[in-house]
Amino acid sequence: MTRVVRIHRHGGPEELKLEEEEVGAPAPGQARLRHTAIGLNFVDIYHRIGQFGADPMPFVLGVQGVGVVDALGEGAGEGVGGLSVGDRVAYAGAMGAYREARLMPADRLIRLPADVEDGVAAAGLLRGLTSQYLVRRLYRVQPGDAVLVHAAAGGVGLILCQWAKHLGATVIGTVSTATKAEIARAHGCDHPVLYGEGRDWVDEVLRLTGGRGVPVVYDSVGRDTFMGSLDCLRPMGMAINYGTASGQVEPFPLQRLHKKSLIVTRPTLGTWIADRGDLERAADEFLNLVRGGIIRVDVARCYPLAEVAAAHRELEGRRTTGAMILVP
Ligand SMILES: NC(=O)c1ccc[n+]([C@@H]2O[C@H](COP(=O)([O-])OP(=O)(O)OC[C@H]3O[C@@H](n4cnc5c(N)ncnc54)[C@H](OP(=O)(O)O)[C@@H]3O)[C@@H](O)[C@H]2O)c1
Repeated sequence: MTRVVRIHRHGGPEELKLEEEEVGAPAPGQARLRHTAIGLNFVDIYHRIGQFGADPMPFVLGVQGVGVVDALGEGAGEGVGGLSVGDRVAYAGAMGAYREARLMPADRLIRLPADVEDGVAAAGLLRGLTSQYLVRRLYRVQPGDAVLVHAAAGGVGLILCQWAKHLGATVIGTVSTATKAEIARAHGCDHPVLYGEGRDWVDEVLRLTGGRGVPVVYDSVGRDTFMGSLDCLRPMGMAINYGTASGQVEPFPLQRLHKKSLIVTRPTLGTWIADRGDLERAADEFLNLVRGGIIRVDVARCYPLAEVAAAHRELEGRRTTGAMILVP
């Protein structure tokens, strides 16, 4: 038997229950992993509270992890370059990570280079793949661009700041505290801006860009920031709402985009890595930047699996910077 954290209904962190399960043998095409590190993501909170609608109960949260392959089903790994028992692998975007061991489709696994630590991959892969499509595919950041990154000291935020800076952009990042501003600055954010109740941050972004605005806003905060994000854009700019930490963006008239010919998009990582080739290319690109020291993934805190509720409280309470992991 191995340990698993389940919820039996949507709700607060107290709904996370440590239980036991029998994982069983892998079916054809599957690999069984023994986790060494499990990534904690803000999306786990959306799933816990039921923001995406009802889930089949009981339900296991968590979308990314790192582990060692300890059994392979028939044919598993043939399209993954000959996956073997004992390989160290990572995955992102597969529901059900809060457990000691799990079954995974082998073709969703990425073999880890020896010089990338388990904790770094568990904290960083999903956020790195997300940042890859955001700065390299959905909007291709160009040298000289001024880009706006919300929640710049968060897990995705710190990676976006470093990646955009590496691509030659000037990075403006919003944060909620002066401490977070310093952390963002240390990760390539040229101009940390404190956002609060009002719209001063919009004025500050416009001031920093000489009144012209930015060509792209990476908005993971949603309800509290999105209308301000539109006001920060230059003509033909793109507002990317890729997260809803403060709640869903409220409906607004499409006509609101007309005057500046703005582009609005609401992407999700799953569609950008659904194809195995896209997944491999994005993972290679991100892991090479990590190995080259261009992108640093900060594993701010590690929690034992049994203390996952405390980790959720920290993340939800905006008390974290960088990323957190669970250690089974
Ligand atoms: N669409 C995709 O493909 C995709 C993939 C991965 C992640 N995401 C999204 O990316 C975002 C970042 O994910 P993450 O796991 O790295 O989390 P995170 O950024 O480490 O944590 C969320 C941050 O959002 C900010 N925030 C603003 N308003 C908030 C509120 N009312 N409540 C809580 N936090 C608030 C906080 O930073 P401040 O205190 O500085 O405001 C907080 O630290 C999330 O919104 C997530 O859903 C989207």
